[in-house]
Amino acid sequence: MDVQAPFNPADLFSAKGLVVVITGGGSGIGLALTSTLYQNGAAKIFVLGRRLNVLQDAIKTLESSPSAPKEASNVLTAISCDVVDQRSVKEAVERIQKETGYVDVLINNAGVLGPTNGGSLYKANSIEEMRDAMLQGFDGNEWDTALKINAQAVIGVSAAFLPLLEAANTRRGWAAGKVEGDGNPRKQDTSALEKIGANKDDDRMAHIITTTSVASFMRYCTAGLAYNASKSAAAHLSKMMASFLAPWGIRSNVIAPGPYPSEMTKSRSANFGTSEVPQGRMGSANDIAGLLLFLVGKGGAYINGTIQVTDGGRMGVFPGTY
Ligand SMILES: NC(=O)c1ccc[n+]([C@@H]2O[C@H](COP(=O)([O-])OP(=O)(O)OC[C@H]3O[C@@H](n4cnc5c(N)ncnc54)[C@H](OP(=O)(O)O)[C@@H]3O)[C@@H](O)[C@H]2O)c1
Repeated sequence: MDVQAPFNPADLFSAKGLVVVITGGGSGIGLALTSTLYQNGAAKIFVLGRRLNVLQDAIKTLESSPSAPKEASNVLTAISCDVVDQRSVKEAVERIQKETGYVDVLINNAGVLGPTNGGSLYKANSIEEMRDAMLQGFDGNEWDTALKINAQAVIGVSAAFLPLLEAANTRRGWAAGKVEGDGNPRKQDTSALEKIGANKDDDRMAHIITTTSVASFMRYCTAGLAYNASKSAAAHLSKMMASFLAPWGIRSNVIAPGPYPSEMTKSRSANFGTSEVPQGRMGSANDIAGLLLFLVGKGGAYINGTIQVTDGGRMGVFPGTY
């Protein structure tokens, strides 16, 4: 290890030059992630969601912000896309293929709550009430929708973007295709890095980041059973992707937030007791920005297959599987 190398935070924790796709990037946590990338040098950010007006308003907010990068123009693009509709996802991929031809980082962040039977489980005073609480939202398609958006779409969207993620690797000089065998690392032609203005020691590989939740691990149910089940599935699928995409040079990591302000949590109190969130508050834009810059920056190149919990200590004070 070269301990005399310059350790420059602006280099280690930076989105400089990255092309990023983020689903659900127009509100809440996704908007904070988009803002972080935008302010920190991303070359292009495709913001996906079903409501185009929400995405366009979000872009206006970021572009008119005093923190907007002065020199950046046309960095943010809104694309209407439903992550559970493969045709809609394919259209988004085709558009991005034409515009940049590669994607360095895909962020699977879209999510929904599903049936909110969390509270009723603990209020039940008879076995019949408990039965009804467990079955709340069972008929209809609320469970189905939560599982599809929160879990199945992580696979659908990640699969659809694989060729563009691989194209990002080849642009950075990495050999394409499947590489297997002990003692046989993927080869990188570092002269490709100079051509794109990246440092010679930049060996980041393409990256899928999935927003799951502390609900992936909690035995206590705050939102709903389908939410915990779907987020658990998403976390495990993301770890599986890190394993089965390893020979293909594509990384997969998870951000598992505790409570953060968003459309999803607008009815919740922002303050918590030490038995709920030891930090006493919801997550802030700083909290999620710092974590994202670590993951996407050069300092995060060696991070693969991990779960990054950002929860003010919540996982430590609830029974869980983390
Ligand atoms: N806030 C928290 O406390 C918290 C905690 C843990 C985990 N999370 C997770 O963080 C992620 C972001 O949620 P948030 O809290 O920021 O809530 P949010 O403000 O409601 O954001 C969710 C986003 O997902 C998009 N979305 C939902 N279904 C979609 C679909 N089928 N296709 C495309 N986009 C879709 C929504 O946009 P459209 O409706 O326009 O499509 C919306 O922008 C979610 O995965 C959530 O589960 C949140």
